[in-house]
Parts: sequence; C-alpha cells; structure tokens
Amino acid sequence: MRFHVLTLFPEHIDEGLNSSIIKRARENGLIDLNLVNIRDFSKNKHKTVDDYPYGGGAGMVMQAGPIIDAYAQVKKEYPNVKRVIYLSPQGQTLNQEKVLELAQEDELLFICGHYEGIDERVIESIVTEELSIGDYVLTGGEMAAMVVIDAVSRHVEGVLSNSVSADVESFDNGLLEYPQYTRPADYEGQTVPDVLLSGNHQKIEQFRHEQSLIRTAKKRPDLLRYAVLSQEDKIFLKKTCHIDTNML
Ligand code: ADE
Repeated sequence: MRFHVLTLFPEHIDEGLNSSIIKRARENGLIDLNLVNIRDFSKNKHKTVDDYPYGGGAGMVMQAGPIIDAYAQVKKEYPNVKRVIYLSPQGQTLNQEKVLELAQEDELLFICGHYEGIDERVIESIVTEELSIGDYVLTGGEMAAMVVIDAVSRHVEGVLSNSVSADVESFDNGLLEYPQYTRPADYEGQTVPDVLLSGNHQKIEQFRHEQSLIRTAKKRPDLLRYAVLSQEDKIFLKKTCHIDTNML
C-alpha cells in the first residue's frame, strides 16, 4: 500500500514511522511512504508557503498554490491516487471502521496543514474528505497522518507477522481486548487466572470472551451498542454487569 503525504515536515513523518513493525513493513516493501515537501513548490525565493489571512485575524494561512502543485505532481506520477484526505479537527472522527475502509485502498494521499489552516480553495478543489483523529487541536496534521497510516498499515496483508492478530484485537469484533499475561505466573503475589494455565482451550476462549464483555461494559459501555452480541452474551452482560442490552 502506498501513502503519499504532502507536508512541510517530511523528516518528522519519516522518523515517526521508522521503528518496529512499520519500519519492517517499509523495508519489506509492504508499505511505501511518498513524502512530498510542500515547500519545494513555493514560487518565491524565500521558499515561503504561507501568508496573512484575507479579512485579518491571527496567524498565517497556507497558500493554495504550493499544495495544489504538490498534489498535481503526485497525481502525474501516480494517476491512480483517488482519495485526498485533509487531516483536520473538522473532519469525520477516525474509528476502527474507517481504518478498515481506508485499508481497502491501494493508495491514499494525505495533506498536512499547519499554522491557522490552509486556503479553503485547496479543500474545494482537490480534497475528497476531511479526517480528524479526535476532538482536540494539534499544531499540525503530521501526527494525525502518522496515526492514520499506522492504524491502516496494520491491516495490510503481511504487515503483522501473526495474521490473525489484527482481527482478534480490541474493536475488531466491537469489544475491547481481553487481559493478557505472560511469565511469571506469580508476580509479587499477583497471580495469573488459573484457567489460562489449565491448557483447556475451550475454557480459555470462553474466559477471554467473557473478560472482553466485562471490560467493554466497564470501560467503554458506549461500544456495546455497535458490538456483535450473541443471545448468550446479552444474558451474560445482564447477569454479570447488570447491563440490559435491550436498552442499548
Ligand atoms: N490537525 C489539527 N488537529 C487535528 C486533529 N484533531 N485531527 C486531525 N488533524 C488535525
């Protein structure tokens, strides 16, 4: 999968996505980052890409020209680029469903804004969607782009060594992940639940599923509304967590 990122800080993204799983995926060619410096498309000798806002007000606005020219160059080289995503707190909030949807694509292009924003005409002319990573304001879109790229990359075939793990984790069945333990079985008096040491795989699976239900009910009850719940799950939630799933 290829990610194009138009940014004023390509080195920030290069460094931020250069460790562990994502580093290996880049080295193996499973994901490709095409980092494009918007400043390279400035037409003035000081290489500036921002200016004062028309109508006044605080801060600077990124000009349309350099961003649109950077996009045009990418598009010339990669004509299959369709989705042009502007990272912004005004966008749709990212969730796992959106991550899975984006992971279906072969190419995504992200635009990272800075200062007080970008000229509205960029959004009108080339942006296909705006995406937010949460209801707070960052100093720029770079961190947000990295979050999206990391989350999407996990779903690219071969990126996670254990192919099942992307599906079993938190959110993929609408529930939070069950608790995990590793050695020692007794850590300063805190012990691992007996069932996990029993070797009984059916019991372990049931325990984990119940833990997922309990955790979700406790920590993120709002997620239960979208979770896929069996009749037994609903009965369990009612009995153990006093949650009436008919009310969700
Ligand atoms: N740029 C600034 N804040 C942002 C946010 N919350 N999500 C995505 N992009 C942003």
